Amino acid sequence: MSGTKPFSPTPRFLPECYDEIADALVGPGFIILDNVFPESLTQGLVALIGQRESQLKRAGIGREGNYQLNDLVRGDAIQWLEAGDAAATEFLSAMDKLRQALNERLYLGLADYEAHFASYAPGAFYKKHRDAFRGKPGRKVSSVFYLNPDWDLTAGGELVLYDEAEEQELVRVAPECGRLILFLSEDFPHEVLPARHSRQSIAGWFRINA
Ligand code: OGA
Ligand code: MN
Repeated sequence: MSGTKPFSPTPRFLPECYDEIADALVGPGFIILDNVFPESLTQGLVALIGQRESQLKRAGIGREGNYQLNDLVRGDAIQWLEAGDAAATEFLSAMDKLRQALNERLYLGLADYEAHFASYAPGAFYKKHRDAFRGKPGRKVSSVFYLNPDWDLTAGGELVLYDEAEEQELVRVAPECGRLILFLSEDFPHEVLPARHSRQSIAGWFRINA
């Protein structure tokens, strides 16, 4: 991810990338795609998270019984996406088609996709964590779609993926508008670095049933 790109790739939409995504999930297990949604959809989602900002709730860690707020682990505020608003509906429908495409190619048995808006205030972070534990039902493929127009590349806020042993940094992803990252939930511990600016995204997960 260093140096200038020799050329701008031809714009491609998500359905044209299904094969490439499936191959990437087999190895190395993650893929970063830029501008694979129509610009109108991306801008619709930027506007929507702007409208929802005041409704977002501080995210917790853990589930049900041991759910807790923990400023030392994660500082984002979230709201789960629901079909209804046009942009949210279109995004969820595109991700559902991707779910079916991955099932056809990889036999993953992904049953659904859940996603939330997330907003990190300046200085907020999400410490190194895993989205899923090996062999447990639940989250199999993680996605993050970034919604930060004109993101300042010196501001921090990168997503960092680590190897399984949590020792080696594999990739650092700036949260630039229109960028989508997909990765195998069980294979990559990852963290969100603090940023000087507020940082918006949609984090989502393709899941298998228990
Ligand atoms: C998460 C997460 C990454 C990001 O919400 O679980 O890891 O870049 N988000 O926002
Ligand atoms: Mn995560």
